[in-house]
Amino acid sequence: MMNKTKYVERGKASLKALLFLPLALGVHAESPHPQPRIPTGGESGGFNLATCAGCHGIEGDGNAAEGTPSLRGLPSTYLKEQLHAFASGERQNPVMSSIAQALSTEDITLAASHYAQLRPLSRPLEAQDESANDLAIHGRWSENIPPCDDCHGPEGKGVGENFPALNGQPALYLENQLQAFKKGSRPSGPLKLMGNIANKLSDTDIRTLSLYYSGSSPMTGGQP
Ligand code: HEC
Ligand code: HEC
Repeated sequence: MMNKTKYVERGKASLKALLFLPLALGVHAESPHPQPRIPTGGESGGFNLATCAGCHGIEGDGNAAEGTPSLRGLPSTYLKEQLHAFASGERQNPVMSSIAQALSTEDITLAASHYAQLRPLSRPLEAQDESANDLAIHGRWSENIPPCDDCHGPEGKGVGENFPALNGQPALYLENQLQAFKKGSRPSGPLKLMGNIANKLSDTDIRTLSLYYSGSSPMTGGQP
């Protein structure tokens, strides 16, 4: 069982560490070696991409042990919607909500297009548990559960602007999201598709599907 409080506390600790990072590095506005910035093309300044990199990685790979998602190659429409949902509190996460609230609409657009143009993660998926493989590819029509890959693409690699990739995301992250859709602490997305599906999944389904799409083994605790 994962410990929710500990997870949140860890998030807070990383956030604190991050806030002091620029100070520790002696980075300031006039620094001759500024942190990488997304060009804004305007006078408004923009935000520092290094803030995101502190948790999501410089290349946006995420962090499996912390359950921080990869942002690489996710569709920009999807990324924008998630950042707006964090900012409005519709998608609940204490760490991401305060970060998203500090972003302007322009910052959100720039961050989304930055991560969307990076090469997506792609891991070979090996079914550790036949039932996960079966649900992912064939669904469970007796309970009206469609195959995950019908919307998320073959091997969960994502489709178009609205169906995010699941492939290679940390198992802990995927599990948290499926539970959040179930509890309603994350909005169900377009046409309430994911909320309806998550409601029909058992805790065991959620665990085995999360391990399956992360491309990890249960033996390594959800890490690749
Ligand atoms: C202190 C760590 C931290 C920082 C800094 C951070 N994030 Fe996050 N981010 C997270 C965590 C943890 C989650 C998962 C939240 C959840 O479980 O819903 C997340 C989730 C996201 C998601 C949702 C991804 C998905 O697949 O739905 C987006 C988009 C995102 N972050 C963008 C950003 C951007 C852009 C920045 C920089 C402005 C940033 N994050 C900075 C920790 C962080
Ligand atoms: C009918 C289409 C559809 C099917 C089938 C479907 N999904 Fe989704 N899923 C979506 C949509 C749309 C979203 C994006 C929701 C949003 O915009 O917030 C999503 C989001 C997700 C997310 C969050 C991803 C992230 O980066 O945060 C997870 C995890 C997920 N789905 C898992 C599954 C699993 C596991 C299955 C199979 C049991 C499944 N989905 C089947 C449409 C679908």
